Amino acid sequence: MSKQYNAFCSSRRTFALLAGILIAAVFSWVPAERLGASTTPIKRPDQIVILSTTDVKGKTSPCGCHIPKGGFSRRAAFADSLRSEYAQMVIVDCGGWFPEGDEEYMEVAAFQADELARSGADAVGIGSRELRYGLGFLRAVLAHSHAPAVSANLVDRTTGRLVLPPYRIVKAGGVTVGIFSLLSEHMDRGPARDSLTITDPLDAAHRAVGEMRARGATVIVLLANTGKVDAEDLVTSIDGVDALVAGWNVPLLQRGRTVKGTVTNYGGEQGYYVGVTHLVLGPDLRVTSGDNMTYVLGPEIPEKTEVLARVKAFEDAFDDHQRERQKERAAAAAAAAGETNETPSHYVGAEVCGRCHAKQYAQWQGTAHARSWRSLVDQKKESLPECLTCHVTGYQKPGGFATAADAGRLGGVQCESCHGMGTEHDSWPARNTVVAEATCRGCHDEANSPEFKFDVFRPHVLHETPAVLPPLPARAKSPTIPGANH
Ligand code: HEC
Ligand code: HEC
Ligand code: HEC
Ligand code: HEC
Repeated sequence: MSKQYNAFCSSRRTFALLAGILIAAVFSWVPAERLGASTTPIKRPDQIVILSTTDVKGKTSPCGCHIPKGGFSRRAAFADSLRSEYAQMVIVDCGGWFPEGDEEYMEVAAFQADELARSGADAVGIGSRELRYGLGFLRAVLAHSHAPAVSANLVDRTTGRLVLPPYRIVKAGGVTVGIFSLLSEHMDRGPARDSLTITDPLDAAHRAVGEMRARGATVIVLLANTGKVDAEDLVTSIDGVDALVAGWNVPLLQRGRTVKGTVTNYGGEQGYYVGVTHLVLGPDLRVTSGDNMTYVLGPEIPEKTEVLARVKAFEDAFDDHQRERQKERAAAAAAAAGETNETPSHYVGAEVCGRCHAKQYAQWQGTAHARSWRSLVDQKKESLPECLTCHVTGYQKPGGFATAADAGRLGGVQCESCHGMGTEHDSWPARNTVVAEATCRGCHDEANSPEFKFDVFRPHVLHETPAVLPPLPARAKSPTIPGANH
């Protein structure tokens, strides 16, 4: 374990906090005696720390299911804790912070920019996701938020000029830091593709690094929206980049590497994680060495109250807007169905099934599936398409759940979620229906139900409960942290 990391853990409080958030899998523990040894230096003038995120994909709060990770409020608490140890710190986001949804999610993109700016981000990179709603929208969002966006190779084709400042030079304590961002030439440029050019990243990097050095920057950080391989190629081909944050489909690595003198970070997506890069400075404030770790923002991290309040207010309003849109969509769908007068296969709702299958109905009502609409309401996420697909029956399908008004009839994971549309009923007994594992996995996927095992979960949904039930994994508990008893 490095000296810097040891220093990072110099206070008991920070230590306890960080102990909880290291990714459990590949973690080697700090020997206790070394902890006691370094309690005095607090503000570390010999180091600079870079706190980074990448590919947040519009995520604003911890994910809904299983072990909730991430969110702005935890990121803010983490940043505060780090800042209490290190006077010299910069906050960056590599890029890819726009959501992946359609136009309905544009307000999430705007909120991301506002929060990035409020979080004190020193520089924000631009990836392909930020171009997906067009250049005009991006410009408006940046103007409104004052988020410090940079991009050294995104060029307006008509004027031949850069769309954004290529880099930012910021002061962190006594250190002058230059931060620039690049896009891969292969990126989709979104609806503005005809008016945008992405120039050669290597040329742009040479120019940006030269200019920043000339303007006194002794520490240079690259935010590369290029994928892992191209990012590593870039820092091998240019001198003078001290730290790299690699974004765009980059697999998470708990520890960064040093690639030809550049400390690299592969930080994971969706705001679930933060990268922490320590750079050790020589007397001339140039970087002599460094290392990088990625931390998961798990339930152990406190949520900064004021940020939490802002996020909650935004999300509640967003949920309300989605409900309005849902109604409009449902009305349009009803009108379209009325025109064609098509009534093929459709959903009928559990109550109808219960009329003949009273025993199964009674058993089902006692299951988590019957409550799954409630779980969304409790979090005020009951209008978000991204949650509804798995928590109600037949979302946006014929006869299925369309708006909150359908909750009584189609809320929850019902009979038809497993057995199929009720109108197909006549074919089932002949087929001797078996609910396939794949049906469960349509919802019990890696992200939302990572511990799903068919053999263990299936007995819990059978309508005749077996005498011996294999225990389900504990829900939404903190991940098991080796050595967390320190
Ligand atoms: C009008 C009464 C009635 C209604 C309503 C009804 N069922 Fe049935 N269901 C039956 C009968 C009768 C059978 C055939 C039972 C048999 O042959 O053992 C059957 C068979 C089934 C089977 C197959 C059982 C097997 O042995 O493979 C399933 C599954 C099933 N129903 C589910 C549903 C679901 C889900 C709904 C609601 C969408 C529903 N049923 C609505 C009467 C009904
Ligand atoms: C349409 C999506 C969907 C399908 C299909 C589905 N589930 Fe689920 N399941 C859920 C949701 C959502 C929950 C969480 C409900 C809640 O508490 O809000 C859940 C919860 C459960 C639970 C309770 C877990 C716990 O920790 O309490 C079990 C057990 C389960 N499902 C088993 C199954 C099995 C077995 C299948 C296939 C035969 C299946 N599910 C199919 C969505 C689905
Ligand atoms: C791909 C399907 C899927 C999506 C999308 C999904 N969920 Fe779930 N959710 C599940 C399943 C499956 C479970 C049960 C997990 C388990 O027990 O293994 C679950 C469980 C939950 C629970 C119960 C957790 C607990 O411990 O009580 C909540 C709350 C929840 N989801 C909220 C949400 C919210 C909010 C969203 C949208 C942001 C969402 N879910 C999106 C499938 C999904
Ligand atoms: C989570 C998935 C799931 C849900 C939800 C579900 N079932 Fe089933 N159902 C099963 C499984 C699993 C079986 C056992 C046979 C099999 O493996 O397909 C089964 C079997 C049945 C059978 C055959 C007789 C029996 O009891 O085994 C009927 C009838 C039936 N279900 C009706 C219903 C009705 C009615 C509802 C809603 C009130 C419902 N099911 C909800 C998964 C589900």
